[in-house]
Amino acid sequence: MKTDVLIIGAGAAGLMCAITAGQRGRRVLVLDHANKPGKKILMSGGGRCNFTNLGVTPANYLSANPHFAKSALARYTPADFIALVEKHRIAYHEKELGQLFCDDSSKQIVRMLLDECAAAGVRVETSCAVERVRHGEAGFSVATARGEVHAESLVVASGGLSIPSMGASGFGYELARQFGHAVLPTRAGLVPLTLSGKHQERYADLAGVALAAEARCGRQAFRAGLLFTHRGVSGPSILQVSSYWQPGEELRLDLLPDRDAADWLPAQRAVRPAAELKTVLGDVLPKRLAQRLCELDFGNRPMRQYREAELVAIGARINDWPLVASGTEGYRTAEVTLGGVDTDGLSSSTMQSKRVPGLYFIGEVVDVTGWLGGYNFQWAWASGHAAGEVA
Ligand code: FDA
Repeated sequence: MKTDVLIIGAGAAGLMCAITAGQRGRRVLVLDHANKPGKKILMSGGGRCNFTNLGVTPANYLSANPHFAKSALARYTPADFIALVEKHRIAYHEKELGQLFCDDSSKQIVRMLLDECAAAGVRVETSCAVERVRHGEAGFSVATARGEVHAESLVVASGGLSIPSMGASGFGYELARQFGHAVLPTRAGLVPLTLSGKHQERYADLAGVALAAEARCGRQAFRAGLLFTHRGVSGPSILQVSSYWQPGEELRLDLLPDRDAADWLPAQRAVRPAAELKTVLGDVLPKRLAQRLCELDFGNRPMRQYREAELVAIGARINDWPLVASGTEGYRTAEVTLGGVDTDGLSSSTMQSKRVPGLYFIGEVVDVTGWLGGYNFQWAWASGHAAGEVA
């Protein structure tokens, strides 16, 4: 079988690329080994798909080359995707921090993409494994479970390694290496962190306790929810910071991010001299956490029995609590894969390989990873669109 553009992966990036190329009149075939397209879209955003973010900037992405994403992001913006969503009359809302979600279901986003594919004459085939890819003068020959496909352009949109049960595979990385591309080391991102040994014991029975906190790693700080789990810590602030964290690095938590606790706590001594410290802290922190902090570090006496300097030090520690993580929950629960196909080998305006004309890499398989909050889909749409304009 012959086609102009063969796209491997019917996820967010692959479908957007297919629509864009199909609208240019290219014959497009999308193949996916999973039994249905857009599985990660379906499970995203708790079933409501956080499909973009109003505040997208290149600074919201991690990559060995922080400039790489600029061109594609500038040429296909959140407003472009919102216009598509509105054209399909999909109701949506801003949840917080510019994150846009469907009011109803992420199924609507997959339906929209498939309708656009159909309108652009794109064929999407699922449950079709790709076995081998060869490149010659006439383009690409791809052996699939349903026979050989010949294509002028080959777009690799096979995603990262997170959630293997959803069809994730290392196929795109293998293909990149086959064609001489460097693949930067991959690791799980936007993922809960685990604690071990004495560090786990300190918080073990706090599982289920949630609070607003700022998690910091190096120069990065994220203020959002934090959740203690049976094995460690999770919640948006931890997921965000996990992408910047390397094993062995210490994390710092601001457990009272809206207050200067070193100021506030001594003032409380004057107001409530007879109250125990855990009671005072329990008014602004989850009670179980307040009690545990007292057990671990601060002691628990009536406020008047603490010297001012002690309360200043305790307050400072609450705003800068150290946390030693041992690892992450890994690809099983990670939202994204960091690292991937080295952007040095790709054109930033088209995603085309600098080594093999007609070969493109888009979406999560590329070493561009967004923050939590719709940034990863926006990269998938933007990089898919960039390749679709030329493939
Ligand atoms: P994607 O993974 O979507 O698609 C790749 C496709 O390639 C899959 O369909 C796969 O089956 C197929 N494939 C893989 N190997 C193949 C092979 N060998 N042969 C054929 N096909 C193959 N982001 C965001 O912005 N907002 C959100 O709300 C969420 N929520 C979210 C929740 C959860 C639980 C996860 C795991 C992830 C998110 N994300 C997210 C991240 C987002 O889902 C992700 O970044 C994009 O789906 C990446 O799009 P791609 O098209 O690159 O890969």
